Amino acid sequence: MLQLREATIDDLALLQRWDEAPQVVAADPNDDWGWATELLRRPAWRRQLIAELDGRPIGFMEIADPARADDGYWADWLAAHPAYAATPSRAIDIWIGEADALGQGHGTRMLQDALRLSFADADVGAVLLDPLASNTRARALYARLGFVDIGPWRFGDDDCQVMRLSREAFRSPG
Ligand SMILES: CC(C)(COP(=O)(O)OP(=O)(O)OC[C@H]1O[C@@H](n2cnc3c(N)ncnc32)[C@H](O)[C@@H]1OP(=O)(O)O)[C@@H](O)C(=O)NCCC(=O)NCCS
Repeated sequence: MLQLREATIDDLALLQRWDEAPQVVAADPNDDWGWATELLRRPAWRRQLIAELDGRPIGFMEIADPARADDGYWADWLAAHPAYAATPSRAIDIWIGEADALGQGHGTRMLQDALRLSFADADVGAVLLDPLASNTRARALYARLGFVDIGPWRFGDDDCQVMRLSREAFRSPG
């Protein structure tokens, strides 16, 4: 059974180990998540979640409000896309840290849970993702879930592809 729980400072070593996993490095080569600091705070604009499979931690997700994030990660993108910025949104980061748990449907389940959590807030009209442009496998997975390509964007040192799922598309998949 797959379950989500809040990440805590007790997950510090786990998250630092996952940061070194090849599939995580490949997907997120440049970001420093500052776990030792960030796991100690719970700002209202984000949730940091651990996915457990039958009690074993296998992956991580962050669900954030890009407009309220105090790291300013999405600020330039939102400023450049006022029509999208007008819709309250959530942005999701996801990875599976345990290599032997890849490719078995767990990431799809995690994302579906994150989408349900995001859209449970009646104000939220869309969910955003920012895979590396080169991460074609993740992009294909997101497209299968109904996300559409909005366009390329450079976040820091990373060339990404912004993808978006509207509440309407979430309600009526396919
Ligand atoms: C992307 C990810 C969360 C998907 O979870 P998953 O449990 O592996 O995927 P599922 O079994 O639910 O679905 C399979 C699909 O996921 C994608 N996928 C599988 N392994 C992947 C990998 N190592 N990297 C990226 N995408 C992958 C593919 O689209 C795959 O379909 P395919 O086998 O037809 O190519 C997971 O593969 C992962 O953590 N990858 C490494 C980190 C990453 O790319 N994170 C996303 C950053 S935007």
